[in-house]
Amino acid sequence: MRLGVLTGGGDAPGLNAAIRAVVRKAQADGVAVAGVRNGWAGLVEPNQTRAIDPHEVSGILAVGGTILGTSRVNPLKSAGSMEAVATNMRAAGLDALITLGGDDTLSVARALADRGLPVVGVPKTMDNDLQVTEYCIGFDSAVAIVTEALDRLHTTAAAHHRVMVVEVMGRDTGWVALMGGLAGGADMIVVPEFPVELAQIATHLRGRRSRGRDFSIVVVAEGATIGGLTDFEAEPQARDQFGHALLSRRGIGAQLAEALEAATGFEARVTVLGYTQRGGAPTAYDRIWATRVGAAAYDLVKEGRYGKIPVKKGDGVDVADIADVVSSQRRVPSDLYELARVFY
Ligand code: F6P
Repeated sequence: MRLGVLTGGGDAPGLNAAIRAVVRKAQADGVAVAGVRNGWAGLVEPNQTRAIDPHEVSGILAVGGTILGTSRVNPLKSAGSMEAVATNMRAAGLDALITLGGDDTLSVARALADRGLPVVGVPKTMDNDLQVTEYCIGFDSAVAIVTEALDRLHTTAAAHHRVMVVEVMGRDTGWVALMGGLAGGADMIVVPEFPVELAQIATHLRGRRSRGRDFSIVVVAEGATIGGLTDFEAEPQARDQFGHALLSRRGIGAQLAEALEAATGFEARVTVLGYTQRGGAPTAYDRIWATRVGAAAYDLVKEGRYGKIPVKKGDGVDVADIADVVSSQRRVPSDLYELARVFY
């Protein structure tokens, strides 16, 4: 057997740990592994697959990014590309393919599996918004980065008696904002699941100040909706091949800081954490979880269970259909949102 591995979509710390697990499990069975370069681009184009020698994965457990490279190329978007993927899988001699990705990458994997191709998935996205699985590779590392940033921003906001607006990633869900804000002691957390008005935020900050809290940390998710700010949906947006707006170009954090300073008279500044949330070494949790699901994905291939994906369920690894995992986005529930409000 020759097994292919592909990493697609946004990179995340932990991808290399999962690749390492697949390669080492395969090595134990004498199975050759080939890496597909740059996500689905590496199968839309020919000759983009190379053997991964087991020695190559030595030392990558703690390395961020992906040794294979990634892209946001979407074979479902252009005519003939799905056929090209199937042709190039055969040309590369791939008997099976493990795809590590979020909803975009896995929606292509699902479509291929529906066509009878031997594909399994691995849940990866710092957004942590896939269904069925309780965890996605990259989320814990992103939350750790947000937490460390909020710890640092507390001291400078306190020194200057300022409102510090912190914009974080998460696309259309607020998991990174909510969990990072909870861990970092944010004084308000704004997430896409629960739209708020600018006036509500301003009133909250004034109330804090009247209680002697002369600085505030406001975490805002890049995809949040705030009444009273520019309606981004009404504006033409740059989009990627999966149709996602490039939310980093909305500048909601900067807009909110400016609007809050005008509304309250309090000095306000913005910090956009951006791509630091996907950079650097994976946390121990991401290394462990990536290892567990990478190994489980190999077992699914060994058992011929295509169209399936290992998922976190409690302390264990369960198996689900890729179709169920990408069926919709898992959104922040009201009970967690209300818990965060206790600490504002
Ligand atoms: O899906 C992960 C993610 O980091 C989102 O949180 C973010 O909105 C998006 O990727 C950014 O996409 P790109 O890396 O293409 O700019």
